[in-house]
Amino acid sequence: MTDTTYQPHGLLDGKVALITGAGQGIGKVIARMFVAEGAKVLVSDFSGQQDETAAELGEAAIACHADVSVEANIEAMFTRAVDAYGRLDASIHVAGNSGGRWGDEISEEEFDSITQVHLKGMMFCCKHAVRAMLPTGGGAIVNFSSTASINYDPLISFAYSSAKAGINSLTKSFAGRHGAHGIRVNAIAPGFTLSEKNQAVSEEIMASLSSRAALNRAGQPEEQAKVALFLASDLASFVTGVTIPVDGGWTAKLA
Ligand SMILES: NC(=O)c1ccc[n+]([C@@H]2O[C@H](COP(=O)([O-])OP(=O)(O)OC[C@H]3O[C@@H](n4cnc5c(N)ncnc54)[C@H](O)[C@@H]3O)[C@@H](O)[C@H]2O)c1
Repeated sequence: MTDTTYQPHGLLDGKVALITGAGQGIGKVIARMFVAEGAKVLVSDFSGQQDETAAELGEAAIACHADVSVEANIEAMFTRAVDAYGRLDASIHVAGNSGGRWGDEISEEEFDSITQVHLKGMMFCCKHAVRAMLPTGGGAIVNFSSTASINYDPLISFAYSSAKAGINSLTKSFAGRHGAHGIRVNAIAPGFTLSEKNQAVSEEIMASLSSRAALNRAGQPEEQAKVALFLASDLASFVTGVTIPVDGGWTAKLA
């Protein structure tokens, strides 16, 4: 953890969490923070890097290869978590890709690739998370959306922003249907965040993207992870069906 202000508080003692996209970036930082908070975790990715994340976390983690654009992979991932740990308390859906051109240029292939990972992947992760949580009385689901789902962003493809907007919608739908079953479902909409893939951008782009936030800087993966931790923990016991921008005030400036 690079954030020296963060101190664990045992917020997830005894809990079991599944984290997609945990091979790198925000998902990997969430996995580290959840283990520090007392959780056992299943870390999944399709890159192979989930094995490194699990090795770093030791006995509190198991790795699972899963492509979230394929329902059979998702189902097997949840089965693995429940078989290994006997229950599932938190399911954090971070896996995502990017790319695609503007709406008047996009190919069907680009649209399908982005939509399958984000919208279809999220739908089926929620479906199987609910099925895994129902037998033990509920849990918390956190879906990763984007600020691009909320307002027009000239740097982001329409396929990505509309798939992310779909995530906000299905977050409300799953929350509405399963609140009575003890399942809370929320989303996080990150603004520009310095995960590994974004650290390589030029100084000019970094300054331009940072200046969009009211706080005039990029976010750190730990700042996304802390909100995921809050939403997964009992501190958020009366929070469900919302998409929280974690963007240093980016969307506030656009509204
Ligand atoms: N970093 C940002 O500035 C930012 C901003 C807005 C939204 N987000 C969202 O936050 C999430 C995490 O972002 P990040 O910066 O850590 O990204 P990242 O690219 O660093 O990590 C994403 C991870 O998801 C995995 N992944 C991609 N497609 C997959 C698939 N089909 N099946 C399984 N795993 C798959 C990748 O292998 C990778 O490990 C993403 O959903 C992204 O859209 C990020």
